[in-house]
Amino acid sequence: MSNQLDKVRELIALREEARLGGGQKRIESQHKKGKYTARERIAMLLDEGSFEEVDMFVRHRSTNFGIDKESYLGDGIVTGCGTIEGRLVYIYAQDFTVFGGSLSEMLASKICKIMDQAMKVGAPVIGINDSGGARIQEGVNALAGYAEIFQRNILASGVIPQISGIFGPCAGGSVYSPALTDFNIMTKGTSYMFLTGPKVVKTVTGEDVTQEQLGGANVHASKSGVAHFAVDTEEEGLTLIRKLIGFMPQNNLEEAPQLVCDDPIDRLDDNLNDIIPDSPNKSYDMYEVIGTIIDNGEFLEVHRDYAQNIIVGFARFNGVSVGIVANQPKVMAGCLDSNASRKAARFVRFCDAFNIPLVTLVDVPGFLPGTGQEYNGVILHGAKLLYAYGEATVPKITVTLRKSYGGAYCVMSSKHLRGDVNYAWPTAEIAVMGPAGAVEIIFAKEVASSEDPAATKVTKEEEYRKAFANPYNAARYGYIDDVIEPRNTRFRIIRALEQLQTKKLSNPAKKHDNLPL
Ligand code: HXC
Repeated sequence: MSNQLDKVRELIALREEARLGGGQKRIESQHKKGKYTARERIAMLLDEGSFEEVDMFVRHRSTNFGIDKESYLGDGIVTGCGTIEGRLVYIYAQDFTVFGGSLSEMLASKICKIMDQAMKVGAPVIGINDSGGARIQEGVNALAGYAEIFQRNILASGVIPQISGIFGPCAGGSVYSPALTDFNIMTKGTSYMFLTGPKVVKTVTGEDVTQEQLGGANVHASKSGVAHFAVDTEEEGLTLIRKLIGFMPQNNLEEAPQLVCDDPIDRLDDNLNDIIPDSPNKSYDMYEVIGTIIDNGEFLEVHRDYAQNIIVGFARFNGVSVGIVANQPKVMAGCLDSNASRKAARFVRFCDAFNIPLVTLVDVPGFLPGTGQEYNGVILHGAKLLYAYGEATVPKITVTLRKSYGGAYCVMSSKHLRGDVNYAWPTAEIAVMGPAGAVEIIFAKEVASSEDPAATKVTKEEEYRKAFANPYNAARYGYIDDVIEPRNTRFRIIRALEQLQTKKLSNPAKKHDNLPL
């Protein structure tokens, strides 16, 4: 046997060892918890056979508490690159079978290497989190490792897409890396995120909560908004990441891939000519409108369970990837509040950072009034959405379906915030406020002093509705470019997108903005 062949055998044996992570027993324990291993996750996520692993031979170099006697090839994380639908992505997946995937100095350096490489070549980074947090034996070196990752997350933000899958524990300061990335996907029942666990919560506040109640997928997807998606299984989460990547460009200097569209672009949707109820107080389902106008009804909704009075997500028009923002009249009459504003603002900023045009569908009665909102800072949160639309330089197409009142009119991608193409349906009502509110203010004396106040109120409301509750006032000033037939909305949006393909617009040079946080 030649010396070289021996060395090749040694390499193969070492690779085998590395692939076993913390060993067969721990792999089985991972499976028993209903979780896949880091390598299994990567294999499911990437195109078959595309994974190129790096740093398989890295080991930790800590000596505290006798940890030097135990070390594993790869040190608790699998890193490398591969492709999704043929497009390059960088990936890291924490390996819970090695010290619970806990973050060591060397583990962090593997993540940093991947992120640096992704920034150099301009490709997305996907991180799969499943970890007991900072490796306790490594002390401050583990903390330093976290901070090095955070710094890279910050610099990469808006340059390359960053996606986090949370498929296991993610606690303490380790939550901040996912928080800094663009999208978080959590698995129901097997993942959780919190700054301090149930025991500390009990000691400090006296509250009794389970991990699930404190930071499970459902909590973060519906209450806090930390998670953009909650999925039932890891398979579902990984498929979702593949889909999500398909809507994005590789980096901020590129466009998202355009697909071949087999859905007729000039399809007329007659149901849309009849979807708005006669009574302004009745709702309809905005999902129906979205599903009707986009390519093949394929909508990838983001933050589905959070602030449901606004809908955001990705879709395609004639194969072009767009971000859709739409008020949902079925929930809280589609009004804007703090959470809806934050949700939509974050989405608008993502789309703008990555050259994804925005299509905004408006039916908004205004901002939600009350102390609950005011004390919660709705002024600042609403301003975030205003800011996001106002600074966005991507193509912005707006269609006003029905109500567009007050400040919410200005905010929802109006002409005045550099909306490129602003259409309205004939059912649009664009004014400072709705008829009932307006009459109470401007005709208060007239109504009160009349012989029949109730009848006068109705007459005045009708007068106001005729004057203002239509799109033609706004169209008269050029704030609406055209009043369109609802059934032709898909075609008009596609035409507008074609027109705006070469749009060039930039904001004044500055160090950075100071958006109302
Ligand atoms: C070192 C760790 C570890 C850690 C787990 N392990 N967490 N080793 N540092 N942080 C090891 C365990 O010793 C065990 O080793 C293996 O990983 C699996 O852990 P188990 O406890 O057996 O698993 P399980 O029962 O599933 O419980 C998972 C867990 C628990 C809930 C995550 O391990 C846990 O509470 N870990 C500590 C979490 C924590 O408090 N971390 C610090 C957070 S603060 P063996 O050899 O038995 O396989 C933090 C600060 C970051 O992270 C700040 C950044 C700015």
